[in-house]
Amino acid sequence: MSSTSPRTRPPASDDLEQRITALIQRMSLSEKIGQMVLGQPGEGPPAETLGDRLREGRIGSIINVVDRETVNELQRIAVEESRLGIPLLVGRDVIHGFQTVMPIPLGQAASWNPDLVRKAARAAAEEASLAGVNWTYAPMVDISRDPRWGRVAESLGEDPLLTGELAKAMVEGFQGEDLSAPDAIAACVKHFAGYGASESGRDYATTNIPENELRNVYLPPFKSCIDAGVATVMTSFSDLDGIPATANDFLLRRILREEWSFEGFVVSDWASIPELTTHGLTANDKEAALAAASAGVDLEMATDTYSRHLAELLESGQLAIETIDAAVARILRIKFQLGLFDNPYTDQPGGDAVAIRERALETARDAATQSTVLLQNREAVLPLDRARLASIAVIGPLADAPYEQLGTWIFDGDPELSLTPLQGIRELAGDQIAVRHVPALDTSRSRDTSAFDQALAAARESDVTVLFLGEESILSGEAHSRANIDLPGAQAELVRTVRQAGKPVVAVILAGRPLTLSDIVEEVDAILFAWHPGSMGGPAIADLLFGTVSPSGKLPVTFPRVVGQIPIYYNQKNGGKPPSPESVVHIDDIPVEAPQTSLGMTAFHLDTDFRPLFAFGHGLSYTRFHYSNLRTGAPTIAIGETLRISVEVKNIGPVAGDEIVQLYLRDPVAQVTRPIRELKAFRRINLEPGQSLTVEFELCDRDLGFYGRHQEWVVEPGEFQVWVGGSSETDLQVTFQLLNEEEVVALRPG
Ligand code: BGC
Repeated sequence: MSSTSPRTRPPASDDLEQRITALIQRMSLSEKIGQMVLGQPGEGPPAETLGDRLREGRIGSIINVVDRETVNELQRIAVEESRLGIPLLVGRDVIHGFQTVMPIPLGQAASWNPDLVRKAARAAAEEASLAGVNWTYAPMVDISRDPRWGRVAESLGEDPLLTGELAKAMVEGFQGEDLSAPDAIAACVKHFAGYGASESGRDYATTNIPENELRNVYLPPFKSCIDAGVATVMTSFSDLDGIPATANDFLLRRILREEWSFEGFVVSDWASIPELTTHGLTANDKEAALAAASAGVDLEMATDTYSRHLAELLESGQLAIETIDAAVARILRIKFQLGLFDNPYTDQPGGDAVAIRERALETARDAATQSTVLLQNREAVLPLDRARLASIAVIGPLADAPYEQLGTWIFDGDPELSLTPLQGIRELAGDQIAVRHVPALDTSRSRDTSAFDQALAAARESDVTVLFLGEESILSGEAHSRANIDLPGAQAELVRTVRQAGKPVVAVILAGRPLTLSDIVEEVDAILFAWHPGSMGGPAIADLLFGTVSPSGKLPVTFPRVVGQIPIYYNQKNGGKPPSPESVVHIDDIPVEAPQTSLGMTAFHLDTDFRPLFAFGHGLSYTRFHYSNLRTGAPTIAIGETLRISVEVKNIGPVAGDEIVQLYLRDPVAQVTRPIRELKAFRRINLEPGQSLTVEFELCDRDLGFYGRHQEWVVEPGEFQVWVGGSSETDLQVTFQLLNEEEVVALRPG
């Protein structure tokens, strides 16, 4: 898909470059190294713990100070009391909102709505910049095919295109149209690269990614952010083919600088430079500093190997002054582009703060609504009909847990702003419908079933039960991976208990990752998957339950049936023996003393389906959409040309709704094997009942090509297959031919 939005960071200008060079000429070595160091406050007031180092120019950036007056004081010390008066970068993890919390990034990805994701990042930047923050560590674009990994919550899912498009929107939202505006903050795309492939989803574990896979799957979202003008890049903690990312010059020099011409700066991850020694790449901090600086890490986060060793490395001739000057220039460039040399201070917000908060809450509500995915809806049990209901049982540990609905990375998130599902339901239920609330479990992990009788009684007395299940915030995020991704604690048992009431049961799941729901999928009539929906999760969920709005989210990740299926993802390769319903055998059907045979057998597990529980792109609505007339603008195109593809989508159900129209492509024969399907375009549309729309997409070389055998971009002639529909499982298909030159000549008239 192409984009018309402008770059959010201006290209370097001659005038700017002259200012940078002139400043660097005036800097002492210690001041240069200071720019490459990010300080964190110790115990005690930041002006005291950081003050002297700021005055001496030994720190150029700070992290985790979010009080406007304190930040202003630190800026003042840097600008007025240091020799060169260089202002500070003020970093903070503003990942999905600031005080107002948006859905977790994985939830936002389920909206498939770049405009909304851009708005959410803009709202976060507006709030964060009021606190003096001018640099965030987002978007995180690590492709992950492993929901055990806790940081899948912070990711935008398993697909390179969806991740790239949404991450680009985030960059645009954070950085705004003009990075020097007071409410713009510099973005940082992370973690470069491959972090999401950590073995068995254990955070920080090693990764194994062949170069072809790296280029075709893991790198494209980073490239989208570079093209959008992202100011900074963060390295990954992980090891890539034996060279940890923080010292990986293939990644940091060859790809980032040479192939992509990235002009911003690279920051290490927290302590990832000294960890090069723990990895076994270097023997000590000094070698680690040398390895990272030589590979192209411009700024060290949190640790002090640069401040302790760079000068020494320079004296001994192991490191060149040009390396340091180049790093300093890149850091200063961003500071200039942020406008910090003109005004490093954050003004008193005045009335703006109120308007900013209101906008943020409204966006948070839209985002929570559009992110929620209706996974299942038997007998159209949803939406709940207010006219016919007399009572609802609201049961479960996450129905009224203002903090737990916020998710990971909420350092600044304000639980006081949360509206919970229970509040949302009460509001919409009004006086007519009795709402019986029973938490039943203290936390999502609790195993104490003593309140289950009370839950069952409430279910019996009510017309319908809505269960709020899932994971508390702390069960996902950094360093919070799980080996088992079933509902924790006694929640599945709670579902079975409530089921005994014989009334309809709706499960609303709040979680930081896909969960294996096989245990409960038959026990409940409907499932709404709301991720960690953020501050406004409550009203958004209530709107969806009562049908004020129809659900429209689609899964940005595959939901496995059991953990043993992982990695399971839609854009897998075919292999030589692809499974089909006819070619699989179930463990229970194998005769006793069966002779060994592999004849006719394919790639499946004996003890589960070969398909996921819910596929990538899946998501239901209260209405139905019919797809027809899938056509290509021409049966053939030549390399360099654009192909139009159109499809008619009609709302054939009872209510208005949004649909996310998805286009998938396959190159069935290529010099390297290609995935069975790859998302190439998508569009969110809104249709009234009975309304239809012809949706058009365009495909060009960028969509048809891939990195081939020699790791170079190739576009190969031949047949391509295209599917369009409402999920990755759609079977509405057309084909077209991409012609080679002789074929193009042969077709020319005369
Ligand atoms: C994380 C980064 C984060 C940084 C700063 C690290 O532990 O991996 O993603 O931005 O801390 O808080």
